[in-house]
Order: sequence, then C-alpha cells, then structure tokens
Amino acid sequence: MTLTDPDWEAMAGPRVDSAIVEQIAVENLGAVAGDAWARERVAEMALEGDDAVELFVGEKLFGRYGCAGCHLVPGHYDDTPTGTELTFEALKELTKFDFGHEAAHGLPGAMHHTMPEFFRSKLQDPRIFDRMPVVDRDADGEKFVARYDQKVKLPDEKLKMPNFNLDEREVELMVQFLLGLRDDGIDDSIKAHLEGDAALVEAGNRAITKFNCIGCHHVGQYEQFVHVGGENDEGSFEAIKALFERSEEYGLWNAEQVASEDLVLFHENQWLANEFYYPEWEESPWIIDEDEFDDDFLEITEAEGRYLLPDHFWLYGLNEGAMGEYIDEKALRPPTLRKEGEKVDPEWLYNFLLEPFIVRTHVEVRMPSFGMTEHEALALVRWFSDKAGEPWPFEPEARVELDLELYVKGAELFTEAKCNSCHPSGAVLPGNPDKAMWGPDLALAKDRLKSGWIHDWLLNPPEFQPGTNMPNFMGEFSDGEYSAIYPDYEERIGMLVYYLKHLGEGE
Ligand code: HEC
Ligand code: HEC
Ligand code: HEC
Repeated sequence: MTLTDPDWEAMAGPRVDSAIVEQIAVENLGAVAGDAWARERVAEMALEGDDAVELFVGEKLFGRYGCAGCHLVPGHYDDTPTGTELTFEALKELTKFDFGHEAAHGLPGAMHHTMPEFFRSKLQDPRIFDRMPVVDRDADGEKFVARYDQKVKLPDEKLKMPNFNLDEREVELMVQFLLGLRDDGIDDSIKAHLEGDAALVEAGNRAITKFNCIGCHHVGQYEQFVHVGGENDEGSFEAIKALFERSEEYGLWNAEQVASEDLVLFHENQWLANEFYYPEWEESPWIIDEDEFDDDFLEITEAEGRYLLPDHFWLYGLNEGAMGEYIDEKALRPPTLRKEGEKVDPEWLYNFLLEPFIVRTHVEVRMPSFGMTEHEALALVRWFSDKAGEPWPFEPEARVELDLELYVKGAELFTEAKCNSCHPSGAVLPGNPDKAMWGPDLALAKDRLKSGWIHDWLLNPPEFQPGTNMPNFMGEFSDGEYSAIYPDYEERIGMLVYYLKHLGEGE
C-alpha cells in the first residue's frame, strides 16, 4: 500500500505570471524613487537570473503579511511585526481608531463609536473597516444598507490581519483583555481596601493559593459561572445535555444524577467532593431534595417535552484535588474540605494547620507541614468558616460535667453498631481488613468535630456525603421526609454524639 497519489504527482506545478510578479516588484520599489526608476531596477534584476524577481517579491510579501510573526525563517528573526503595537492599546485615543464608514452618522445600524465596539468588530471581521455601506431608502422612505462596496485601495493598503474565526465568547474575552492593556495601573479608587475581618478572609484565600491546597483537596476556592445558552427550550436542553456528557471535564459529581423531572438537584448544603449548584433558576424557584434524583431525567424530560432547565449555574471547586486522580480508591484520597468550616472545631483546625498529624491511618498520602505563620493559619481557619457560613468570632462548645449514664449508653450503642469495625479509636485499629472502608480516628472527634455536625452526619451519612463508605444506621431521607429506622433515633444520635465528644472520660 502506498499513499502516493499518481494523479496528483503528475500535475504540473503552479505557473507564475511574470508580468504580475514584475508589477508587484515595481509597486514595492516605486516608493523609493518613482515608477520609472523601479521599472529599470526590475528589468536589471530579471537579467540577474531566472528567479531573482520572484525571490525579491516573495520576500517582500513574506514581510508584509507578517509570516515571521509565527514562522522562524533565517534572515527574518528580527522582522518588525506587521501588526499594530498593542502594549498600551486601551490608552489609545478613540479618535485614532479608524472606524472607516461603519460608525457614520445616519447609517442604519451604525457601529457605536466606542473602543469595545471597535475591538469586537475588528476581531469578528478583520476587514470590516475596508468596506463601504451603500445606503438606500425603501418605499416608506426608511434608510437601509443596500449593499457593501469595497473601498478602492491598492493591495498594499488593504487591512491584512487574518480572520481567526473566533466564536462570540472568544471575541468577548479578547475584548476584555485588550481593554486591560494599559500602563496606568489599577486606579486606587476601584481597588478593594480590605480591613479587619474581610482582610483576614482574603489572607486565607491567598494562603490557599500560596500553599496550593487545591492540589490535593477540593476546597471550593474557584467558582465558575456557566451559562447554559440555547435560544429556546430545545436549545438549552441540548446545551445542558452536552454539559452533562462533558461532566468529567467540569469535574461534576455524578452528573447523570443532577436532576429529575421535577428538577431535582443537589442540596444547597450538600457536602460533595465536587459540587454542582444551581442557586439561580430562570424558571423554577426551588432547589429540591436530591432524593428525588432520577437517573433518567434527561430521557423523561425529553419524552414529556417539558423543559425546566437552568439558564445558568455555578460550578465550585473546578480543577481542584488533582492529586486524587492518581489514587484509584476514592477513600484513600486526600479528604474533601468543602464545608470543613462547618465540620471541625476552629481551634483544632488552627493547631492542625500549624502542625498536621495523622487523622486517617489508612490514607496513603500525608498532609504536609507547611511551616506557615500563625497569621496564615488563623486566616485559613477564618476562610473555611466564611465558606461554610459559620459565625465569627466562634464560640467554643460548652464543657459540662460528665453525665456517666448518657456516656455508658452511648458506649453500648457504639459497640452494638460495631463502629470500631471501620474506625480506629486511638490505638485500637478497625476490625475490617479492607482499609478502603476505614474512616477517621474517632478518638480525635472529641476535640475535632462540632457536635451539631456529628449529629447531622449520623442522621444519614450517604446523603450527607454521597459516595461515602459509611452506612446509614439511623434512617434515610426519601421524598424529603426522613424515615427513621428507630423511633428514638434522635435520642440514639444524641447518645453517640455525647459518647464521641467525651470519649475516654467515662472509663
Ligand atoms: C498566525 C500565525 C501564522 C501566520 C501569520 C502564518 N502562518 Fe503559516 N502556519 C502557521 C501554523 C500554526 C502552521 C502549522 C499548520 C497549521 O496549523 O495550519 C503553518 C503552516 C504553514 C505552512 C506549512 C508548513 C508545513 O510544513 O506543513 C506553510 C508553507 C506556511 N505556514 C507558510 C506561511 C506563510 C508564507 C505565511 C505568510 C504569508 C504564513 N505561513 C503566516 C501559522 C501562521
Ligand atoms: C500533598 C497533598 C496535600 C496538600 C498540598 C494539602 N493537604 Fe491537607 N490533607 C492531605 C491529606 C492526605 C490529609 C488527610 C490526613 C489524614 O487524615 O491523616 C489532609 C487533611 C487535611 C485536613 C483535615 C481534614 C479533616 O477533616 O480531617 C485539613 C483541614 C487540611 N488537610 C487542610 C489543608 C490546607 C488548608 C492545605 C493548604 C494549606 C492543605 N491541606 C494542603 C493532603 C494535603
Ligand atoms: C463500614 C464502615 C463504617 C462503619 C461501620 C462506621 N463508619 Fe463512620 N465513617 C466511615 C468512613 C469511611 C468515614 C469517612 C467519611 C468518608 O470520607 O467517606 C466515616 C466518618 C465518620 C465520622 C466523621 C469523621 C470525620 O472526621 O470525618 C463520624 C463521626 C463517624 N464516622 C462515626 C461513626 C459511628 C458513630 C459509627 C457507628 C454507629 C460509624 N461511624 C460506623 C466508615 C464507617
């Protein structure tokens, strides 16, 4: 087999029209000392050898079209770029932009005489300013653009920026970038001047970036606004379907389960590795319980022809936790820190950040010691509490005298439910040989976890953190209603929380 195409091979090479080549050469040289002189020079050049004029013209055109802007060619390493310098583009006076005839007064649909509009039009259609709208009047005397003529220009004078066929969004992003090309810095009046608490939160945000916490954890630092688009219901349906299919790229958590026919979505407060939130709906005001998820949402919606779709939504924690991708077993990855502020005691967190230690004996990577300053640790604690909407300053949990009876009941329940089969508590390691099933050391819960959080966790772990290996002991949500396994589940949870928060004190 060969890929050689004999027909193509037999084709003659393109022929060069030497009259045209010579004309271009004359145009190029004419500027130096007039056409007569140029014609003489070209005639001399032609005598030098077969290709002399062609080579001369080729090199001129190479320079004119800025080929060296993208290609390396010896002798052209230092060519002046063919385009306009853009370094301080946004500082250029508006009058220096050549709008051609596009912004002319009285032109129907005339372009706004503004910088963004110039950039936008230029990027969409680089030669737009070379055309001439020809205006006519219709039967009612209304003006309209009958056609566009091209301005009479020498080839040399025509606009030469290539058309990159940018889409609307790319054009918009470029326009914003161009508008930022100025050297006068950001005006002090539009800079945020943060003080006190707001400054502390921002310091936390910077510490997250500085130590690259998102390399290992999902923390929800980055948010991305996603516009679903689509001109009509059908269009947005297709758009959202495409998004779901690209869920990997967006890092969505189990995107197929995002919604059901009644638009069931993740909870606002859902504690997920990767969240997919719809806080604002175009058409529907609710955020419903994820128990009503229906895997077949898309098919059902399509079949019924009912489209209740979001116009836009926010994605949190995009591209975070990349380290986890190298560890197949989810349970052995660095833990998600979404809602960490809701979960752990601020003082514990502060100490942990300054001097991390092992919480999960089974997790294979370690939390590094960053040698951060106390201020950075405090700022991080504040940042996590802010993300979780926790009060600040925080109130430490009240310590009361030990209620031995409650403690013993809790201990019994703990044994009965075999909590230790998955959880180490201090030196006692779990009975379950499969480390991927293990949970954190519960001897730490006392200083580490907030009582309210443990309560919410125990109500139904799989709903609290979908995908967790911890089973539900007390009951589950279905259709937004909690169906308890034990009628006294609240009491039982209370006992367990009490036991964990006092572990070791009643022995
Ligand atoms: C905006 C950048 C850009 C400019 C300007 C540009 N090129 Fe290219 N050119 C490319 C890229 C990128 C490729 C690689 C193939 C592709 O992606 O199309 C290429 C490929 C080529 C190739 C094919 C090379 C090969 O071995 O496949 C030739 C020949 C070429 N360019 C010539 C030119 C000439 C002549 C000019 C000036 C008239 C020019 N290019 C201007 C970007 C550019
Ligand atoms: C190299 C990966 C890595 C980086 C980077 C990293 N961590 Fe960790 N982190 C871990 C691992 C692994 C654990 C689990 C440790 C354990 O449970 O024993 C952890 C645990 C934690 C915990 C305890 C969570 C809990 O509920 O048990 C917090 C809080 C935490 N990290 C915060 C941070 C912050 C803040 C940063 C940035 C300053 C950071 N981590 C950077 C790997 C990392
Ligand atoms: C089948 C294994 C298993 C059993 C049994 C189990 N857990 Fe868990 N538990 C886990 C895992 C795994 C986690 C960690 C959550 C996650 O990341 O999936 C966890 C997390 C927890 C947490 C949160 C700890 C933290 O720091 O994040 C508490 C509290 C807890 N379990 C309490 C209990 C109690 C109380 C019992 C007994 C009623 C129990 N667990 C039984 C597997 C188990």
